[in-house]
Amino acid sequence: MKHLLSIAKLDTKDIEDIFSLTAKFKNDLKNGIPHRLLEGKTLAMIFSKSSTRTRVSFETGMYQLGGHAIFLSTAEIQLGRGESVRDTAGVLSRYVDGIMIRTYRQSDVEDFASFGSIPVINGLTDLLHPCQVLADLFTVLEHKGPLKGLKLAYVGDGNNMANSLLNGCSKLGINVSVATPRGYECDETIVANAKIIAHETGSTVNITLDPSEAVKDADVVYTDTWVSMGQEKEKSQRLRIFLPYQVNKKLFSEAKSDAIFLHCLPAYRGCEVTDDIIDSPHSVIFDEAENRLHVQKAIMAILLGA
Ligand code: CP
Ligand code: NVA
Repeated sequence: MKHLLSIAKLDTKDIEDIFSLTAKFKNDLKNGIPHRLLEGKTLAMIFSKSSTRTRVSFETGMYQLGGHAIFLSTAEIQLGRGESVRDTAGVLSRYVDGIMIRTYRQSDVEDFASFGSIPVINGLTDLLHPCQVLADLFTVLEHKGPLKGLKLAYVGDGNNMANSLLNGCSKLGINVSVATPRGYECDETIVANAKIIAHETGSTVNITLDPSEAVKDADVVYTDTWVSMGQEKEKSQRLRIFLPYQVNKKLFSEAKSDAIFLHCLPAYRGCEVTDDIIDSPHSVIFDEAENRLHVQKAIMAILLGA
């Protein structure tokens, strides 16, 4: 494992290693046991989009591991004025030990990895959000025990979250069911690949237009915003089209009675999810957000550690 660009590029063993280190870091942090595995190391964090969780959890994680993180907004660095990815990656590789990047095109993240000489971590693109899904599935593991054979339902937009969930669930043997409106489906290549991987891990991938079908008997119900970063102009149309996909009491009642609710956040309450679900005992959103910190510390220790 040299980079974290997509969960599809990880082996099941890589994910298991990340999860066992995550559990150790989480437990040790709670018990006051420090790990300064990244002393003297620096992470450059490039952001072309807004962030609360990703920025704070990476920066805090780097600090806790004895390293340092530099926040770089593309509004302020030369990349935003037209300096190439190739030159930026080459230069940063001479200063820092790793790059985390949040941007639009997945190909830009891949280019950073090929043109630079240091590990690159995908902090969200229009296509994928792998760090989030690793934290999500670690959260499911904590709450639901062994992952194999569980059913995860994703309802809403076939976006970066849905695509990465397809990658992650199929790799770990979780049965995944995705319901989106017509025209807002997941990436076709990712669906096709997830089906192949699911076949190997003995799980299933179901793609439907019907939210009740997806949620039926699910152990985990997941949704995300209907308007991702960069889609603001489509907002009014999207809010109308996605309304039947709202996770509310009625839809959630189709899931198993002990189902958990996940959302990567930020949530738009009253749109993709109602308060009575996101604030209910089923909701584990803050555990999920917390786990970003622990999972990413594990990822950084593996990629940037000696
Ligand atoms: N879930 C997530 O990535 O949140 P931020 O956009 O706040 O980083
Ligand atoms: N789908 C959302 C995820 C935010 C963490 C977006 O891309 O804006």
